[in-house]
Amino acid sequence: MAIRTRPARGSNPPPDAGWPSIQDPASLARALEEWFPGEARSLPWRRERSGYRALVSELMLQQTQVSRVIGAFERFVERFPTAAALAGAPEDEVLAAWQGLGYYRRARLLHAAARAVVERHGGDVPRTEHELRALPGIGRYTAGAIASIAFGERVAIVDGNVLRVLSRVAGAPARVADAASERWAWEQSARLVAQSSSPAVLNEALMELGATVCTPAAPRCGGCPAEGGCAARRAGTQAAIPAPRIAAPRRTERWTSLVWIDGNAVALERRPDRGMWAGMHQPPTVPTPGGGDGPAWPCAVREVGAFTHVTTHRTIEFTVVVPDGAARIPADAGWTRAPLGGLDAYALSNAAWRTLEVAGLDVTRPPAAAAGRRAPRRAATGS
Ligand code: ADE
Repeated sequence: MAIRTRPARGSNPPPDAGWPSIQDPASLARALEEWFPGEARSLPWRRERSGYRALVSELMLQQTQVSRVIGAFERFVERFPTAAALAGAPEDEVLAAWQGLGYYRRARLLHAAARAVVERHGGDVPRTEHELRALPGIGRYTAGAIASIAFGERVAIVDGNVLRVLSRVAGAPARVADAASERWAWEQSARLVAQSSSPAVLNEALMELGATVCTPAAPRCGGCPAEGGCAARRAGTQAAIPAPRIAAPRRTERWTSLVWIDGNAVALERRPDRGMWAGMHQPPTVPTPGGGDGPAWPCAVREVGAFTHVTTHRTIEFTVVVPDGAARIPADAGWTRAPLGGLDAYALSNAAWRTLEVAGLDVTRPPAAAAGRRAPRRAATGS
């Protein structure tokens, strides 16, 4: 049997060691800083700056598009205007205010971060990357973004947009979601911010350029302040840099949800505290058994429709059933009787809203959740 030994430290150079660097970081920093003020989109977290607004917006923007964050951000900071107000709110209210943004773990982490800000910093969001990183849910990128944009600290940032801009400008063979590429990009971003006159402007310019000009497909190189010094533009390799991520296989699951209406209430269950949609509510849902048999429910059911919900790691085929005839929601099932007119008080995932709609309920989703609506796989088959 071959015995694998760990190579001696330093004998195994990282794959990014020979990659090109940004040639003239001082010129690039200047060009970005001159470009940004005239080109920045008017976004709510930019109209009025504070550490708290930066904290909320950066957590929301971690995995959600700007267009979906705008409305949710405004409603969220109106409802919870300070870290102290957020820290004092019950978790269910925070999750309900997060609806439509997805990845609810971020809402719990933001809530925990607000509590830590109150306990450790008297309610004021700390100003340094170092202190920010000690808060729940705050990684290197988010800490750098808040510290530099809200407080002017000279620290680097790298997210997907920034990695794309830097790797194209340098002509480096980077790949999305790849450790060596990210290590290289952090070094380059640090070289750039070291040359900047305003770390706040430079870092937000990098994000903005990646979001609006140096886009993954069809970049608008003609409007780019870095065009003159961009190695990918010179070589015509923009479309190939960075290389796409190596995709993890997505698994398919089959779930059945029961939409049980009894008078003016619908049965909801709370999901477990861990995992997907942790702690959120949904119509009672079980894995669909294989072999053609339906799940065992406390009443006879009939199928009324189906739809497919796609998440980052799974494709979930939902079958939606309703009681076959009038039946009372059993008191001992551990379900909540949620009033049909008050569903927006519950944090429901987009899939749960869709389930209610497929069952024929005329529900009004809260505005942020309505933004996440998807087309049905096939329409409801019954009333
Ligand atoms: N993405 C992440 N942070 C952002 C910001 N501050 N502005 C625009 N897009 C962003």
